[in-house]
Amino acid sequence: MPDSGQPANASAADAPVVILYGRASFDRQQNVAQIAARLNAAGGRTFIPAYEDLTGPSIPDVLEELLQRGVRQALVIPAAFPADPSLTAWLPGALAAWRLEHANADFDLRICPPVEQFLDVTAAVTAALAAEPERIRPVADVKPSMGKPGWTDVPEHARQAFFCLGARCAHRKALPLYQHMRTIMKSIRSLNSGPQRAMCVRAGCLYPCNQGPLLVVQPDGVWYGNLDEAMIDRIVREHLLEGRPVAEAVIHRQKTQREDLGLIDI
Ligand code: FES
Repeated sequence: MPDSGQPANASAADAPVVILYGRASFDRQQNVAQIAARLNAAGGRTFIPAYEDLTGPSIPDVLEELLQRGVRQALVIPAAFPADPSLTAWLPGALAAWRLEHANADFDLRICPPVEQFLDVTAAVTAALAAEPERIRPVADVKPSMGKPGWTDVPEHARQAFFCLGARCAHRKALPLYQHMRTIMKSIRSLNSGPQRAMCVRAGCLYPCNQGPLLVVQPDGVWYGNLDEAMIDRIVREHLLEGRPVAEAVIHRQKTQREDLGLIDI
């Protein structure tokens, strides 16, 4: 769990710990962890960041950590801005599912309305327009650039594994599995150079969320779901290295030209 500026502790047991649920992909702008740290510095409550996507920690990670610390009450505040309406609708049910899985725990879990409902965006736009003149920069003073020179080259990969770190897969503990996959792939020389070179990239929601954690290996068109560490190990070894998809974890196969050409052993 990242440093939120003040850890949850027994002295805060009377007030619910507040989980600020933000979006990692937007965190540079929103900086949920810094907001939590500032709120913690103000005192009175404990604030902890959790993330919908990509980096984690996910809400289940945070909740389980709180349970282990003996915390008995938590409030979740959806803190992403702009809020994603489908996630806003999904979150209460996902928290209820987590609560049901921990039905024996003495834990009061509640959810607040999204912060978006309380933000005065009109006032913020007006304030931006009224910023000090030195903070309003002429674009002509900035060096023109569309990116780094290396961003021109298309990398040669035999296969790409797109690992879903969307909110619902993150809720199903996709992040440590993604990190595990990247670690073992890095340790295998032939997956990092040569004809078997493969990459594993994180992706946003790929849609079959109920079968998460999941990934798709392209261009083979093989979808894997309900993954765990042991299955990730097999996918790396048997599919990425040996070209044989692991049938036990396949949830869908797209018919591809590679199959027709005999480049993959389905
Ligand atoms: S969040 Fe992973 S498929 Fe939707």
